[in-house]
Amino acid sequence: MSGPALKQLQAHRAIHEGGLSGAIGKTELMIEFLQEGDMKSADRAADELVDYWKSRVISHADAEEEGLYLEIKKENPELETAITQLTRDHDLIRIIVQDIEDLRETEKISPTVLQKFYALLVVNEIHSRDEERLLLE
Ligand SMILES: [Fe+2]
Ligand SMILES: [Fe+2]
Repeated sequence: MSGPALKQLQAHRAIHEGGLSGAIGKTELMIEFLQEGDMKSADRAADELVDYWKSRVISHADAEEEGLYLEIKKENPELETAITQLTRDHDLIRIIVQDIEDLRETEKISPTVLQKFYALLVVNEIHSRDEERLLLE
């Protein structure tokens, strides 16, 4: 989605809500498989969840940094600090996803991996709320 569309609060909020509810649904699905003891399906669900974070949420962050954030910074230089903070949020999401990928090579779905999947939901929710408040409202 291009910069101008991301500038509209309602449209942008809908992307955030869709992204978060998809991530919650896929996280819950993985947990259900775990509770059933179906490790093979849980492992596949974890792979799909990582892909989802990359293709839906991190790609949204990349697009913002390449378009929306640059535009806003040019038009409203006083928002530079806010944009730096929001970019750090994006980086946290990127770091946590990378950590999950690294851990999964040896641990599959460990308690630490689950903790990080939950952390992504929290960081992403706070980030979306702040981004809407600081840049779009
Ligand atoms: Fe963002
Ligand atoms: Fe966003």
